Amino acid sequence: MAAEEIKDGVFWVGAIDWDLRDFHGYSTYQGTTYNAYLVKDEKVALFDTVKMPFKNEMLHNIREVMNPEDIDYIIVNHVEMDHSGYLTEMIKLCNPEKVFCSPMGLKAIRSHFHMSADWPLEVVKSGDSISLGAKTVQFLETKMLHWPDSMFSYIPEEKLLISSDAFGQHLATTERFADELPESVVFDQAKKYFANILHLFAPNVTKLLKTVGELGIEIDMIAPDHGLIWRDHVPDILDDYRRWASYEMEPKAVIIYDSMWHSTERMAKAISNGLLSEGVNTRILSAKATHRSEIMTEIMGAKGLILGSPTLNNGILPTMADVCTYIKGLRPKHKIGAAFGSFGWSGESVKHLNGYLEQMGCDIVHEGLRVKNVPTEEDYTVLTAMGAEIGRAIKKSFEE
Ligand code: FEO
Repeated sequence: MAAEEIKDGVFWVGAIDWDLRDFHGYSTYQGTTYNAYLVKDEKVALFDTVKMPFKNEMLHNIREVMNPEDIDYIIVNHVEMDHSGYLTEMIKLCNPEKVFCSPMGLKAIRSHFHMSADWPLEVVKSGDSISLGAKTVQFLETKMLHWPDSMFSYIPEEKLLISSDAFGQHLATTERFADELPESVVFDQAKKYFANILHLFAPNVTKLLKTVGELGIEIDMIAPDHGLIWRDHVPDILDDYRRWASYEMEPKAVIIYDSMWHSTERMAKAISNGLLSEGVNTRILSAKATHRSEIMTEIMGAKGLILGSPTLNNGILPTMADVCTYIKGLRPKHKIGAAFGSFGWSGESVKHLNGYLEQMGCDIVHEGLRVKNVPTEEDYTVLTAMGAEIGRAIKKSFEE
């Protein structure tokens, strides 16, 4: 049986995408799941659907529990197509009494599906609830987590939070619960998910967690729209979200670079030695060898952000432009930054990299270093000193 009862009368009826390797620029090397949930009560409610190509898998799972045509309500927690791709056909199949969505969900549904007026849509806002019989569904709008339409559904009788994309991980598994896999696997993927999907909206996460606390919502299970369901680790993942959303960082630095003929690479290593001489650990990540979404995950907890590129055609290497554009969009905060790079004649790369650091709001603590062609022994000394200077600034920031 692929459908799984996760709480009394609550079933996972989603689909597993073993092959997904890219989600809008985010590397999903371990695939993902599109989680949908079915609650059987006097009324039967389906929470979200799946990406269109997975409709048969979802229908098969629903049929293991009941006839899909007997679904009374569809609850659209999120309109992005990985959760609503099958919505139009599902509505045709089960002809539901109601389709519930948030106010922004209504706009998103209209602009995605351009449907006729006969969809039985009903808008619900934060604080609204519906009865399924013995169970209640309470709604909480979670605007910009991560779309304007996003919404949580909470079933108080089960202390179950159906959390849309929040608390998700891109991880294809036949296990359904986070406590069925090693913690490092699940939490690493949850961290990567936060870094690449939610980091941009970290202040909204902080506000939402405060609201959940103020409402006194008791949660003993969080069922996200991707990956594993949180059961034993609910306090841990809530605590991690609090830390990640508050931009908690360590006194370490991430050096991201690309190189043509190894000069910028050597510069990266010399700067790293300088940082280490001040007791600041580093991660040196080649933009050529490391996916942008892995880089973003490393950056999240590091105080130092150091960028390196040789000059190419008066600019920077395209790999670095890719990474810098991606990181900037996810809005890192409170970083200490610096730039470096080798050059042959014109040498504009450091200027461009400093421009990115400025746009990211970094505190640029060194004007940057350029080396012509290949670094000399003297250059290594200066680069190591630059690393040490950045290291001292990082340490000082933790004393303030
Ligand atoms: Fe998993 Fe925002 O869709």
